[in-house]
Amino acid sequence: MKTTLSVIKADIGSIGGHLRPSEDLMETVKQHLESNKGSLVVDYRISNTGDDIAILFSHREGVGSSAIHELAWDTFVAGTAKAKETGLYGAGQDLLKDSFSGNIKGLGPAVAELEFEERENEPFLFFAADKTDPGAYNLPLYLGFADPMHCSGLMLSPKMSKGFKFVIMDVEHTEKDRYIELNAPEELYDIAALLRDNERFVVSKIISRETGEQAVAASTTRLHNIAGKYIGKDDPVMLIRVQGSFPAAGEILSPFNIGHYVAGFMRGSHTGPLMPVKMGSGISFFDGPPIVTAAAYCVQKGKFTEPVDCFDHPYWDYVREKVARKSTELRQQGFSGAAMLPYSELEYGGIVEKMKQLENKFKS
Ligand code: F6R
Ligand code: MG
Ligand code: MG
Repeated sequence: MKTTLSVIKADIGSIGGHLRPSEDLMETVKQHLESNKGSLVVDYRISNTGDDIAILFSHREGVGSSAIHELAWDTFVAGTAKAKETGLYGAGQDLLKDSFSGNIKGLGPAVAELEFEERENEPFLFFAADKTDPGAYNLPLYLGFADPMHCSGLMLSPKMSKGFKFVIMDVEHTEKDRYIELNAPEELYDIAALLRDNERFVVSKIISRETGEQAVAASTTRLHNIAGKYIGKDDPVMLIRVQGSFPAAGEILSPFNIGHYVAGFMRGSHTGPLMPVKMGSGISFFDGPPIVTAAAYCVQKGKFTEPVDCFDHPYWDYVREKVARKSTELRQQGFSGAAMLPYSELEYGGIVEKMKQLENKFKS
């Protein structure tokens, strides 16, 4: 019997601005799920990363199950009521539509789903990031699945010698989902040519060329494409099966020691380094820095083990310090040049009005 992992996450309100959901809210989400999951859900875990709440489900309904999506939607609606009642900031902010209509994709929350026949042991990692967008995973996925500088298994393991297929989505193409499939290592330079543009091209799936099994599912939602205006960054989630014919957990974690610069940070309008943090971390400096959490699990017959908090280890204290330094360095130049995002990516529409007014004042 196949197992499906679905992670569905939303920002439905938080304390002190966009920092962290309240314990009350987390408890409401848990209670609602517990009372409504019935026999639909085999197991679930709830966590927060910055101001976002993620529900990780295991079930038998397959990818895109409307019953699972509806349960997540209803849970976020119940959470929103609690957020409103207790005066949390931005209550229900990621629920962009009034009602559920078959699939939660396109309604605001981010979704990543993987369906597979469980291996004898099924280890996987669950990533969630806040104050950034789906392109933030492009570089770590490229390095973790296609570069032997991080994934030594590409050289050392015969189970990985054929490499991996990258399925990349053009997220600017809003009329209809548009994907390209490219094979590493033969088409590495083409993959790099696309993935350099984090705001337009986003890794959606990665598949083993040895076994045909899917290793990665990442969320690709861009809220402004749904709302028709810029309303925030998209705080992506991702699931990665590891070990055996897939990279080892540590090979996937390795590129996160770079603290690469991503889009997001204050008002979703700046550039900042991605900081690997402990599960449940909130947001602070300059509404950031952009953060990422990683929880490792094994799943057996749909039941989860407890998580291992991958970035809760002394090694990552050193990385966090380095990333804090990188963050401070770039913040020194405030709004200037590379420190802020290009015009098209600025989160607040106000600047469009400002530019119109200034346009009228230009003389030649
Ligand atoms: C970025 C983010 C925050 C807010 C900022 C202003 O994605 O959520 O940086 O943009 O705190 O928030 P508002 O406009 O709600 O006052
Ligand atoms: Mg938010
Ligand atoms: Mg968020």
